[in-house]
Amino acid sequence: MVGKAHPTVLNFIFHNQRDIDYQMTVSKIREELNNLLPQLTAELAQISQLDQLSQLKVKYLGRKGPLSAILRKLGALSAEDRPMIGQLANIVKTQMEEKLAQAEISLAARHQDEKLAQETIDITLPGRVPEIGRIHPITKTIHEVCAIFQNLGFQIAEGPEIETDFYNFEALNIPAHHPARDMHDTFYLQNNLLLRTHTSPVQIRVMEKQAPPLRIIAPGKVYRRDADITHTPMFHQVEGLLVDKTVAFSDLKGTLTVFIQRMFGAGTALRFRPSYFPFTEPSAEVDIACVICSSRGCRVCKGSGWLEILGAGMVDPAVFRMVNYDPEEYTGFAFGMGIERIAMLKYGVDDIRLFFENDLRFLRQF
Ligand code: FA5
Repeated sequence: MVGKAHPTVLNFIFHNQRDIDYQMTVSKIREELNNLLPQLTAELAQISQLDQLSQLKVKYLGRKGPLSAILRKLGALSAEDRPMIGQLANIVKTQMEEKLAQAEISLAARHQDEKLAQETIDITLPGRVPEIGRIHPITKTIHEVCAIFQNLGFQIAEGPEIETDFYNFEALNIPAHHPARDMHDTFYLQNNLLLRTHTSPVQIRVMEKQAPPLRIIAPGKVYRRDADITHTPMFHQVEGLLVDKTVAFSDLKGTLTVFIQRMFGAGTALRFRPSYFPFTEPSAEVDIACVICSSRGCRVCKGSGWLEILGAGMVDPAVFRMVNYDPEEYTGFAFGMGIERIAMLKYGVDDIRLFFENDLRFLRQF
């Protein structure tokens, strides 16, 4: 006869069954963990490439891998089992990482050996001569110009290529209506800034900081909206400034003559032409005899036999007042020369644009 089980008995069977299920889960997890290393070892034995190794790394240790899946189940375990299984998982993880690292070393070594076995080195081949760069002719010319003036006691000064309207024009006594301030000649930026059109603003920056006497040269890039065989929108100038008591125009003439004869040779002809700059009075422009055509007249000197290389003059008293120098006590001269023009004459280059086209056949000649 089959009777009904007593509720207490049923409860006992139910709890007992849950315990059994739980124990089975725990031992299944343990078994899964213990199987991981042998499985990985077996798969590692099958591979020969490093990219296959990376795939195995992801497969076993990645977020979607078996180890992560097991770790996600830890939450369901009892407080006593969780640390035990957690510790086992950590051990297995470390063992797998070690196995993978060892495999990586031996695969990399095998790969290297295979490559070396394929490669044959012909030690009789001539070595590769490294390409040696050289200094750009414009930089070279700047160095030469600076060296000559440094020998005459001038010191090098620098100023920014992005200037304010004040330093580039205002402080140099260049009035608002002057054509150089026109949009057609100057590259304007925002907020009253511009690309300096000459190196003369360095004069102001130096005089603001330094008391006379002073003797400086300032090489650097300048920018103008200009382009033909003797003009480029970016070119280089070297500014010169000498301030002292009793400086005369003859000092300017003497200094520039010494410079030009050291740069181009003792017999080089030069001429001073009266000119106008708002920041010098009197002003002059200096030309040197065109070495490209020996003054016979060519497209570079535009048939005149002379090429203008610099502007110069005695510092205008208005500029001295701008920087709080007393024009009754001090006088000075200034000049600004175009480096490309000097380089063209020095090296016989008949088109200024060649300096900036970066044609190695041209640059290798210097
Ligand atoms: C000036 O720039 C004055 N700041 C020079 C100066 C300084 C005068 C100090 C008095 C006292 P100018 O615009 O003439 O002057 O230019 C000076 C030299 O730069 C010229 O003689 C020429 O050799 C060179 N130059 C001018 N424009 C260009 C250009 N677009 N490309 C290459 N060289 C140029």
